[in-house]
Amino acid sequence: MARRREKLPPDRSKALVAMTVNGERVEAPFEPHKTMLEVLREDLALTGTKHGCELGECGTCAVLLDGKPVLSCLVLGLECEGRSVETVEGMAGPEGLHPLQKAFADLGAAQCGYCTPGFLLTAKALLEENPRPTLPEIRQALAGNLCRCTGYVKIFEAVELAAAWLRGEAAEPRKESLYGYDFDESGLLPSHPGPVGAVLAAAREAAVDEGGDKPRPYRAKAR
Ligand code: FES
Ligand code: FES
Repeated sequence: MARRREKLPPDRSKALVAMTVNGERVEAPFEPHKTMLEVLREDLALTGTKHGCELGECGTCAVLLDGKPVLSCLVLGLECEGRSVETVEGMAGPEGLHPLQKAFADLGAAQCGYCTPGFLLTAKALLEENPRPTLPEIRQALAGNLCRCTGYVKIFEAVELAAAWLRGEAAEPRKESLYGYDFDESGLLPSHPGPVGAVLAAAREAAVDEGGDKPRPYRAKAR
């Protein structure tokens, strides 16, 4: 004899919240104390958003809420009712990677990868608001995203390159971005011990620290 299926009572310990996640409307049941970070990772299986300090200090959990970057460890899931959330899983489209994702990959800016989703989404919001940011503006916009492992130069360069692509410019990575500041036009990668190395290091520092109120130009792509 077929067993009668018991109808489960609704789980009153959970809230049912309707929101749009990466363009899709979802109704997610979750415990009302959960942060958006926990809801994304534990209830919606969107583990691209990373779990760092949980204190609002590292930026690794950054997502876009109604197009603005927020730290998802500091936002309650309940606050997302009726709102639009974008995570790194929503960045690539049918035509492939988002230009920021491609630039991060091409330039090696996804160094450890852990902080990368937060950097990508914060940079996306910047470029939507300011398509031609200067280096200081990029640094300012990404100031809340910490890299714990390697450094920021590749990340800033990748945002500059993606900005050029998004403006429709045929740009390619600077050679020094790919090969370092001791790249020479002969195609060799000489090592420079002693004073020469020190001069190159100083040049690199100066380039990284340069202020300036104009975006740095990119070479046009060779045809
Ligand atoms: S995990 Fe949210 S800011 Fe660090
Ligand atoms: S690149 Fe992720 S912490 Fe440094």
